[in-house]
Amino acid sequence: MVLKLENLILGFIGAGNMAGAIMNGIISTHTYSAEKICVFDINAQKCETFRKTGVTVADSSKDLVTKSDIIFLAVKPQNFAEVLTEIKSVVSEQKVFVTIAAGISTNYIVKTLECSCPVIRAMPNTPLLIGKGATALCRSANVSDDYFELVKSIFMSCGTVSVMEESKMNAVIGVNSSSPAYIYLFAKAVVESAVKQGIPADVALPLFCQTLEGSAGMLRKEDTTPEQLIKMVSSPGGTTLKALDALYEHGFEQAIGDAMIACTKRAEELGK
Ligand SMILES: NC(=O)c1ccc[n+]([C@@H]2O[C@H](COP(=O)([O-])OP(=O)(O)OC[C@H]3O[C@@H](n4cnc5c(N)ncnc54)[C@H](OP(=O)(O)O)[C@@H]3O)[C@@H](O)[C@H]2O)c1
Repeated sequence: MVLKLENLILGFIGAGNMAGAIMNGIISTHTYSAEKICVFDINAQKCETFRKTGVTVADSSKDLVTKSDIIFLAVKPQNFAEVLTEIKSVVSEQKVFVTIAAGISTNYIVKTLECSCPVIRAMPNTPLLIGKGATALCRSANVSDDYFELVKSIFMSCGTVSVMEESKMNAVIGVNSSSPAYIYLFAKAVVESAVKQGIPADVALPLFCQTLEGSAGMLRKEDTTPEQLIKMVSSPGGTTLKALDALYEHGFEQAIGDAMIACTKRAEELGK
């Protein structure tokens, strides 16, 4: 029998920021209908918000696992032990788990559940909400190609997917999952400085957003490196070089490098 996504129920344990981005992303891109999605969160208010979009709300994590075929584990890493312990008695090897948590390994899930369920580990990001997500994906050895392709297609419907080895899943968080925050911080700093120089925020922010999109497009062009692109903007004796001097003086690259290492270390701690 050919495995078809539309015949499966997707369950989400945890209906927070990231689960919300995935659910709203797949509903708004018409990848999946709301009535085939089941959700459970200990916060009843979050469940109610999703119920209004047509999503089914389960009575408990156990109830959700019983009702679903593919189960997204979307709680914070600190809540994994309690959730896995709670659902342990109703899991089977026919259920596929998708973990999106920082630092939590596929092996930890299998061991805690005491069941060799197929587990896919994903590191998504919140721009999935607008169909522009970037997700890193890996799988445990017993995930069939059919199921892996199905889960990959869910994330691909709202952005791009890079498949990698599980050993890289902590380091990738700084690249795609936490990095939207550094970009928003960068945007905040640019807009705040623009305002101080007399440009209103509602003019500066759209200009900067378009610049981010355009710069990303330039970076995507084949045969161009970030260094070459920096050179292209830097006229000798011009303004950009002065701006770059100030950034180098403040250790911009070192700060980003330190942020990425801090991200990976935190993921390692959360996985212990
Ligand atoms: N946010 C991102 O950009 C991002 C990106 C990639 C991966 N992730 C991963 O996604 C996961 C969720 O992150 P998030 O930012 O979406 O967190 P979040 O907004 O706090 O969502 C987690 C939800 O799970 C609920 N919860 C806690 N314990 C539960 C339980 N036992 N059963 C059911 N629900 C429970 C929480 O309720 P309470 O608030 O009441 O505790 C909260 O509503 C994390 O593991 C994180 O590493 C996040």
